[in-house]
Amino acid sequence: MFQINDNYQKLPGSYLFSTIGKKVNEFQKAHPDKEVIRLGIGDVTLPIAPAIIDALHKAVDEMGNAATFRGYAPDLGYEFLRSTIAENDYKARGCEISVDEIFISDGAKSDSGNIQEIFSVNNRIAVCDPVYPVYVDSNVMAGRTGVYDAASETWSDVIYMPCTAENGFVPEFPKETPDLIYLCLPNNPTGTTLPKDKLQEWVDYANRVGAVIIYDAAYEAYISESNVAHSIYECEGAKTCAIELRSFSKNAGFTGVRLGFTVVPKELKCGEVSLNAMWARRHGTKFNGAPYIVQRAGEAVYSQEGKAQLKEQVAYYMKNAKTIKDGLKEAGYTVFGGVNAPYIWLKTPNGMSSWEFFDYLLENANVVGTPGSGFGPSGEGYFRLTAFGNYENTVKALERIQAL
Ligand SMILES: Cc1ncc(COP(=O)(O)O)c(C=O)c1O
Repeated sequence: MFQINDNYQKLPGSYLFSTIGKKVNEFQKAHPDKEVIRLGIGDVTLPIAPAIIDALHKAVDEMGNAATFRGYAPDLGYEFLRSTIAENDYKARGCEISVDEIFISDGAKSDSGNIQEIFSVNNRIAVCDPVYPVYVDSNVMAGRTGVYDAASETWSDVIYMPCTAENGFVPEFPKETPDLIYLCLPNNPTGTTLPKDKLQEWVDYANRVGAVIIYDAAYEAYISESNVAHSIYECEGAKTCAIELRSFSKNAGFTGVRLGFTVVPKELKCGEVSLNAMWARRHGTKFNGAPYIVQRAGEAVYSQEGKAQLKEQVAYYMKNAKTIKDGLKEAGYTVFGGVNAPYIWLKTPNGMSSWEFFDYLLENANVVGTPGSGFGPSGEGYFRLTAFGNYENTVKALERIQAL
């Protein structure tokens, strides 16, 4: 009789966005006349930029012609895209990352979930709390997290690094030594990040204790402050301790197009074993390459027109972020983030729990956000609003919140 992977049974239901959807539907049914503004889910709303659409059309036409048709893509990614990334995302920032250290994928969610596979099940993971839930859940599936405690909403074998207003959202080195450290910077959900000198301290720490940092830089394009690193490889020594995950979802609106990449430096080794070679083996065995059409679209992200158009898109969302942040401050809220990321993280007023504030905002302002407790226990008492909506609705939402 077959057996299942029991680790899946340990996963507590991820009710966050389904509970939000259910509550919003119920509210809408009870109040069909109310216009609900959704600043909850972190999905982009602007259409794909023209330079990228042109590249997509061109690639589609190539696929319809026998002379230019392409079948399976190289499973590690086309050279044209990998070299464009090496040049623009790394060399231009003073980082020496070679083409064969870049692995093209269908996005950072899969990579962030899959990367744990090349590490021992006995490794201890450390995560910032609150954070993107995929890191913990994928390790639960692998059997690396121990026993779940429903009361504290924590796993016995996971090292949580609280990031709250009290420590300025800067994680402290944990008391127990981790083997794998997940850092998501700029952070989802708090919208905060670390200055480069603090990140350097993490790189030094990881090298000292022999840990690997899994660095999720999905929101890199939103960094506006000059003292913030865009890549962990801007820190000295990062190539011996860090894997970097990147996404085209938030910088280029590819949430529905799907493209990302992971950097595994050749210097990153466990004894004599190269993690780069392991990830190449894993990728080559389990992934058959991102579509040619999409990789051409990815290449256009780095063209002159593409860069200019995407800069405008990021600026549009960051104008929303400023509108939300300033508007909330004027209304007396304590707010964080929104400077280097498209998320605003606010302290719920009057000691309300994250879900109490969710209901209050939905019922009284007809605005939907995301309860902070859904991202980890230290998110309790906080709330996330996203800047990915349209500007007019964002302004309207803030007017309603200010009128409460
Ligand atoms: C921190 C973080 N990493 C990764 C992703 C997913 O990226 P992708 O769309 O490339 O799978 C998200 C999406 O919200 C995210 O917030």
